[in-house]
Amino acid sequence: MSTLFEPVKIGTMEIKNRFVRSATYDGSAERSGHVSERQLQMFDTLAHGGVGLIVTGITYVDPSGQNLPFQNSMANDEYILGFKKLNDTVHNQGAKIAIQLFNAGRERVRFLKDKTEEAIAPSFIKDDPYFSGNYRSLEEDEIRQIIENFGDAARRSREAGFDAVQVHGAHGFLLSQFLSPYTNHREDDWGGTLENRLRFHHELYDDIRKKVGDDYPLFIKMGVQDGFEGGLEFGEGKTAARIISRWGFDALEISQGLRGKEFEGTEFRTNIRNKDREAYFREWTKVIKEDVNVPVMMVGGLRTFELIKEVVDKKETDFISLCRPFIREPGIVNDWKNGNYHKATCISCNKCLMALRKGEPLYCVQEKTKGSAEQNT
Ligand SMILES: Cc1cc2nc3c(=O)[nH]c(=O)nc-3n(C[C@H](O)[C@H](O)[C@H](O)COP(=O)(O)O)c2cc1C
Ligand code: SF4
Repeated sequence: MSTLFEPVKIGTMEIKNRFVRSATYDGSAERSGHVSERQLQMFDTLAHGGVGLIVTGITYVDPSGQNLPFQNSMANDEYILGFKKLNDTVHNQGAKIAIQLFNAGRERVRFLKDKTEEAIAPSFIKDDPYFSGNYRSLEEDEIRQIIENFGDAARRSREAGFDAVQVHGAHGFLLSQFLSPYTNHREDDWGGTLENRLRFHHELYDDIRKKVGDDYPLFIKMGVQDGFEGGLEFGEGKTAARIISRWGFDALEISQGLRGKEFEGTEFRTNIRNKDREAYFREWTKVIKEDVNVPVMMVGGLRTFELIKEVVDKKETDFISLCRPFIREPGIVNDWKNGNYHKATCISCNKCLMALRKGEPLYCVQEKTKGSAEQNT
């Protein structure tokens, strides 16, 4: 009997099964950053569909870190009430919920049109073929302020009834930018050696822990390799994951660091047509799981129940984290639980992502246009 549908604990939190909805920006928050009615409905449907733990989309801890227009904010106490409603909705369906806290760093300039301030990053990289836009390097006092903003947002998250916080340390956002030798050229204590490039992560962990207490589950989504040559390599990413796991994070989700130019060098890969293309971070996750003593979450292109069962039964991962399959089929976990072991119908075309980037709310484009032939990328 597989353990997939048995309750499991991370620290003090019990989750009813091993399925996680990986963090998903839904383009549905109010422009002010507040939780919207649409989000309450989406999360209700999702929690009703059987997933054990839902991670929210990227939520900014201060306005300098926002990168998309309809994004949630936890930048001050006024946001707590809306999240309380969201958390009650999810809890009423028997699921748990974690908030993903982030700062976009230089990524702020990519999609957000009406910027009032220049974006920030550990360093400014001249003539970067992987990134263009207006941004500048952070001053030391600004770094310390952002760290405190993370801690304050985590404290609010606990007050709002979230079961856990996930720090976003992947996908080319600010923490990835500090960790990667490609984007961190600082010559002070925040750059250079791996220890220095992890200083931001470490101080941020300490600040959050101080504000939420020792018993509160704290996760991190880690980008352990960049999507192009010359960036963070897996050897260092793996060492970083080991170091971070020892500070007291309660779980690690393993993903991509800085993004390459094509989807192939990103966290959301396409063309997942057969089993060989599935679970594209399987090897990284498996290797890191053997190296750390906290639970890990495998994400990235998991689509067939057979493979999902295999990686859990072989103890290559503790949790299965899915994003795009839930956009198309929010009830897929209940299907599987009830013995309907069909492959996820999401074809990983990323049309939902493209629509989001144009400012539309999250929906499955293929599902909406069902009837016409499904188009792959
Ligand atoms: C529409 C969309 C929105 C996403 N938003 C986030 C996000 O807010 N935070 C995050 O860490 N990852 C985000 N991701 C990445 C997913 O969490 C996940 O890591 C990736 O899509 C691979 O999983 P999948 O193959 O199951 O989709 C997003 C992906 C998609 C397609
Ligand atoms: S639009 Fe494509 S990638 Fe997005 S959920 Fe639908 S099938 Fe999956």
